[in-house]
Amino acid sequence: MKIILAKHSGFCFGVKEALKKAEQTIEENKDKGIKIYTCGPLIHNKTVTDELQEKGIEIIHSPEEAEEGSIVIVRSHGETEDFYHRAKAKNIEIIDATCPFVKRIQQLVREAKNQGYQIVVVGDRTHPEVIGINGWCDNEAFVASNLEEAKAVAAERLFIVAQTTITAELFQEIVSYFERKKKEVVVHNTICHATEERQKSCMETAIDSDLMVIIGGSESSNSKKLYEIAKKYCKNTYFIENKETLPLKEVEKCNRIGISAGASTPERIIKEVIATMSELFTENKTDNTMHDLMDEIEKSLRLPRNGEIVTGEVIQVSNREIVVNLGCKKDGIIPREEFALEGNQELTDLFKEGDEVQAKVLKTDDGDGNILLSRKKLEVNEHWDEINNALENKSYVNAKIVKEVKGGVIAVYKEVSGFVPLSQLSDKFIDKADEFIGKTLPVKVTRVDQKKNKVVFSHKAYLTEEKQKKVQEIWDSLHVGDVVEGTVMRFTDYGAFVDIGGLDGLLHISEISWGKLKHPQEALEIGEKIQVKILSMNTEKGKISLGLKQNKPEPWTVIDEKYQVGQIITGKVVQIKDYGAFVELEPGLDGLVHISEIAYKRVTNIADELSVGQEVTAKILEIDKERKRISLSIKETLEPPAAQEANAPAPAPAEEKETKPAAEEPAAEAPAAEEPAAEAQEMQQAIAAAEVAEEIPVQVEADAAEAVAAETEAEGSQE
Ligand code: F3S
Repeated sequence: MKIILAKHSGFCFGVKEALKKAEQTIEENKDKGIKIYTCGPLIHNKTVTDELQEKGIEIIHSPEEAEEGSIVIVRSHGETEDFYHRAKAKNIEIIDATCPFVKRIQQLVREAKNQGYQIVVVGDRTHPEVIGINGWCDNEAFVASNLEEAKAVAAERLFIVAQTTITAELFQEIVSYFERKKKEVVVHNTICHATEERQKSCMETAIDSDLMVIIGGSESSNSKKLYEIAKKYCKNTYFIENKETLPLKEVEKCNRIGISAGASTPERIIKEVIATMSELFTENKTDNTMHDLMDEIEKSLRLPRNGEIVTGEVIQVSNREIVVNLGCKKDGIIPREEFALEGNQELTDLFKEGDEVQAKVLKTDDGDGNILLSRKKLEVNEHWDEINNALENKSYVNAKIVKEVKGGVIAVYKEVSGFVPLSQLSDKFIDKADEFIGKTLPVKVTRVDQKKNKVVFSHKAYLTEEKQKKVQEIWDSLHVGDVVEGTVMRFTDYGAFVDIGGLDGLLHISEISWGKLKHPQEALEIGEKIQVKILSMNTEKGKISLGLKQNKPEPWTVIDEKYQVGQIITGKVVQIKDYGAFVELEPGLDGLVHISEIAYKRVTNIADELSVGQEVTAKILEIDKERKRISLSIKETLEPPAAQEANAPAPAPAEEKETKPAAEEPAAEAPAAEEPAAEAQEMQQAIAAAEVAEEIPVQVEADAAEAVAAETEAEGSQE
């Protein structure tokens, strides 16, 4: 034989609360001589009401029957509005044990009545709950217990509610009828979830049983409905009030006995029925022993402790709270304030019946006999876990900066508040935090002391890490030889720093141009976008060297393509020496105009004829690719003086002048005689000295030597 107790059986929380309030009232008024009444039986269970009567609670049927100054307990079914006024008039203290779900219906119909709706209550007009509800809309509700009665409703604007214990099918049938009739309907399905649950689990148990026992008071409407449901699925169904009426002979014949109990049936009575049946068992035939069942029931009586994290099933959702079945004798309540609702969001948008929900126990009794649960407290725990994880995994969280305090700001991550020192609010220096208030920033968790409720965040650490990551990404994507776009950021005497997408590289002054620069700004501007070549990458030091001149060929490698001997060029004087002037053909390509090639007349001071920066036209006399030297002549681009034209010989080529020292001035006109060896030696020393001092560009040093030699020959050593 197996006994199957329906999953949801016995007292609902509304009944439990009513009983509890009654017990408390008896206890608090013991020996005070105050009469205590209930208006009608507190619950529909004679065994219980008899016990209450023994304890001094008398049943009356109107406040007028009560003594002045007495106490009247309003039962879970509730009372009419008028009842309260009458009780007050008789100076009666009311202990209101109306079930919160019934109370809600009373409020709904009262508001709807004020809005001009015709109230329709689907239920039994003789049931105290329905009488009470009707009393909150001036007794003008239309009560329909079936579809036929509902058809008599003539009004067009309907507000439909349900008695808490009717079946969902009946309610739906009537609502659908009004909808088909195209009436304007506002529907509130106020069927109590506890009822639905009991009916559903009763049906499931009945399907699975050979015999069903429904335990409940003979007046209990919800117990009677359980009987009707069970009978549908199990013909062998019996309605009993207690163990005395248990049909033992029938029970004995069956193998699977199902039990279900109405919302007003105490656990004690259920236990007694099970115990009586178990006496019929033989030890070895029992699959589900009485002991197991008792354990299960005991378990359901245990209450969770304060602070315990519990999981339950949502059994009722309203916009004020959600009710959670925790599998124990009390239900849990999570008030609306425990949820972070956004905008117009309602609890009904977040939860539905049957959802599983986890919460933390705040109080095992919230004053109304329920277990007060907190989501926020539970979430705070979860949020601290997230903070600790972020610290451990070096990850980040998004925190909202809420206010400025001494030395920093307060930032909030969900339910956890932390401190961000001013120095950690940015990777730049800041002395005020106002611009950050109200912003949500990613922050790293740098310190946590959960016991002291302290946490320190750093936005700077986040920024630094992100920057490093980005730099690494860029670094990894770059290779020596790549040409990338960069932006000139700043200058130094030795070059320019160029941002190449988040990384700064050094563009050394010598790598900017093939020509000689005194300062990078001669060739670049701050903010200028340039294409630079990566010359080297030092991973250890994180340094990158860049080149700009490499984007153009080195001028000497392509000189044949652009310059030939005899070609007339235009260039700028870039340097003036005693022996000649250097003219830039293009960056990196200078030629020497020897003093003797500046003009037809004798030139003794070049500065009298030329100045640095002056643009001149000159003829290429020689290109020495091996030694990288170019000899130029300005003179040869000029008209020879008229008087000398007839007699004077044509100007000698540069080579000739070098080998023929000038005897008399003008040097250019009078080719020089032989080169004295001592003077040539002096000339070489002068060139060497000039090279050391870097006065003479490398590519023209030979020209300079030639120039010095020519000077020496023509005028004697200048030393
Ligand atoms: Fe209340 Fe539902 Fe019980 S309405 S009294 S909890 S059956």
